[in-house]
Amino acid sequence: MQDGAAQSGAKPQPLPEKVSVTLTVNGTERRFSVLPWVSLLDALRDHLDLTGTKKGCDHGQCGACTVLVDGRRINSCLTLAVMRDGAHVTTIEGLAANGALDPLQQAFIDHDAFQCGYCTPGQICSGVGLIAEGRAKSADEIREFMSGNICRCGAYPNIVAAIQQAMGTKS
Ligand code: FES
Ligand code: FES
Repeated sequence: MQDGAAQSGAKPQPLPEKVSVTLTVNGTERRFSVLPWVSLLDALRDHLDLTGTKKGCDHGQCGACTVLVDGRRINSCLTLAVMRDGAHVTTIEGLAANGALDPLQQAFIDHDAFQCGYCTPGQICSGVGLIAEGRAKSADEIREFMSGNICRCGAYPNIVAAIQQAMGTKS
C-alpha cells in the first residue's frame, strides 16, 4: 500500500531544525534541543529523564502530567517545550528539599492518598500549586479546584484530606 505522499506524488518534507531550549528544572539549568512540536511532558520524560511526571491522556483531560511552571500548575502535555524557554519548572522529583519530603508528599503518605500511584505525581504537584494559590478554603473548594486531576482508583476523599493536612486545616 502506498502512503498519501507517494500517491499524490508529493516529496516528503524534511524535518524542521531542532530548537535549543533552556529550562531551570528543579533548580538546575538544563539545556537541550527538541523538535518544535515536542510537549513539555515529553521533553521532561524523554530528554531530561524525569519520568516521575506521568502521561495519562496526553490531551489535557486527566492531570497526570501536572507540573509547576514559574510557580503555577499546568498540564505539561498541553504546552510545547519551546514555548517555555527560560522558564522554571518544578516536577515531583524537585519537591523534596534537604532530604525532607514536601509537607503534601508526607500528607499523601499519612492519609493513604493513593492506590496505584499513577495519578499521584500530578495530584501532588497540582495540590502544591493549589495551596500556593490560596484559593481553596473548604473541602468542597479543594474538590472543585482539583477537579482537573483524575484518580481512576477513586482515592479522592484521602487526597482531599491530605491537602487539608498540608493546608493546616486538618491533622
Ligand atoms: Fe496531560 Fe492527561 S496527560 S492531562
Ligand atoms: Fe491510581 Fe490515582 S491512585 S489513579
